[in-house]
Amino acid sequence: MPVADYHDQFASVFDTIYQDRDVAAESRYCTELLELDGVRGRGAHILDFGCGTGSHVFAFAESGLAATGFDVSTAMIAQARKKAPSAGSAPVHFESGDFSDFRRHQNGTKFSGAVSLFNVFNCMPNPAAMLSHLCLIREGLAPGARFVVDVWNGAAVFADEPRPSVRHFSVEKKPDHELVRITVPKLERIEQVCILHYRMLTLNRAAGSFTEFESVHTLRFLTPVQYRHLFEMGGMTIIDEFVHGRPGTPVTEHDWYISYLLRNDDSSASHTSPRDVTLEVVPR
Ligand SMILES: C[S@@+](CC[C@H](N)C(=O)[O-])C[C@H]1O[C@@H](n2cnc3c(N)ncnc32)[C@H](O)[C@@H]1O
Repeated sequence: MPVADYHDQFASVFDTIYQDRDVAAESRYCTELLELDGVRGRGAHILDFGCGTGSHVFAFAESGLAATGFDVSTAMIAQARKKAPSAGSAPVHFESGDFSDFRRHQNGTKFSGAVSLFNVFNCMPNPAAMLSHLCLIREGLAPGARFVVDVWNGAAVFADEPRPSVRHFSVEKKPDHELVRITVPKLERIEQVCILHYRMLTLNRAAGSFTEFESVHTLRFLTPVQYRHLFEMGGMTIIDEFVHGRPGTPVTEHDWYISYLLRNDDSSASHTSPRDVTLEVVPR
């Protein structure tokens, strides 16, 4: 299933499934890592690559940073556009489609920083796609600007294999409704992908009825050594590799969610071209 189709299916339930996240805290932590907090962020413009329903974009804008959210899923962006910025927020902007088109239309605008939160890079079909998107993001960053990217740690996926799960979610303003997500993962170790089979039920207890859909999502993960190689080939300097949410904490093989803090030190025109590189992982 193409990644945009999968996310289009989940767009309407995304905020319900992830209602426990502290988006304000996540956004604050990112602006600190990007060194765009406080006065340093004045006049800054941040890119949220794979912004989903746009929650972080609005949080950045509330803290005074102009923010642009980009996502390949039009349904995710439609959900984002339904939300209203709070009074006094900096400007927000959303785009969907092909990222290379978006970059072309930017006419040389440079972002002061970028984030890609919650495993967007793992949605890409192969490492070559990760590299070409990384290069496009880097080209859109001002010299010295930073990029925070969250990814699955392949070493941890191998050590602590994903298991089937059933999760229940309450629905805001609809006490009679409940979402149930059944996940059955299949790990393909050689390809370094996890194929997630989802069954998603919306129960209406008052009416004694339910609706459902099924979906399949493939996540491709790399090991830390492979990510380092990828980011360096993409022309980024790695400032930190850490356990998600805990800058400075080295990753172990049991930390599934990890993050990288990268910097665009490449102000020259010469940089790695995605076409010139061979990766350690063979694309599917
Ligand atoms: C797990 S969601 C994360 C959304 C958001 N960053 C957050 O933290 O809530 C992954 C998002 O990445 C988007 N995505 C996946 N591949 C993409 C690509 N190649 N370009 C842009 N967006 C992409 C999906 O459409 C989806 O909205």
